[in-house]
Amino acid sequence: MNDKSKIIAGLIIFVIFITFPFWYNMGKAAPVPEPKLTDKAKLEKECVEPKQFMKVEHMQILDVWRESVVRNASRTYVSKTGKKFNMSLASGDDSCIGCHSSKVDFCDKCHNYASVRPYCWTCHIEPPKEKK
Ligand code: HEC
Ligand code: HEC
Ligand code: HEC
Repeated sequence: MNDKSKIIAGLIIFVIFITFPFWYNMGKAAPVPEPKLTDKAKLEKECVEPKQFMKVEHMQILDVWRESVVRNASRTYVSKTGKKFNMSLASGDDSCIGCHSSKVDFCDKCHNYASVRPYCWTCHIEPPKEKK
């Protein structure tokens, strides 16, 4: 083998190695969804709390928000970075759905994948599907 073919062989092995999880899982597992941020959310840059925290703890935040509004009539949440939010699931631009304005492309993407069906939308108004 000359150097050139060694490099090519190396590259082929590398590509197989890197893509292994994809073809190994072919037909078995659905890819992990990428929840889509709307332009509005991208513009705002930050969520209520850091992304990693939101990923795992957003249900707890919603719980805290609900308690605060329903029990204490307090609607303003101040994040650790000092940003203010209206503690609401779906009303106002600074509510969850106000900013993540496509429930279908955002919340549902993950929930369908994880087979969670939050019951919130039996009472709370779901934004129309065409709204982005
Ligand atoms: C003002 C806009 C805004 C509001 C209001 C907001 N978010 Fe976010 N959210 C963002 C942005 C921007 C990101 C991405 C942050 C990043 O990439 O660092 C994000 C990220 C997330 C993520 C992680 C997504 C992922 O890809 O892992 C979840 C979950 C989430 N938000 C849920 C919520 C919930 C639930 C609420 C209401 C309690 C909420 N957000 C309110 C802007 C917002
Ligand atoms: C990054 C993926 C992801 C995104 C984006 C996301 N969720 Fe979730 N959500 C989950 C997972 C996973 C669970 C289940 C967690 C568990 O059971 O511990 C969950 C659970 C919940 C629950 C609790 C449901 C229950 O029955 O216990 C609520 C409420 C909720 N999400 C609301 C939202 C809302 C509203 C949005 C959009 C603004 C959203 N989530 C976006 C992944 C996501
Ligand atoms: C049985 C009906 C019902 C269900 C189901 C329900 N809610 Fe609510 N929720 C209400 C009512 C009524 C209020 C009070 C509205 C107000 O004062 O603005 C409220 C208020 C809230 C608030 C604060 C105000 C606002 O505008 O959002 C949050 C946050 C909230 N709920 C989150 C949730 C979440 C998350 C779920 C699902 C895990 C859920 N709710 C399920 C009826 C419901």
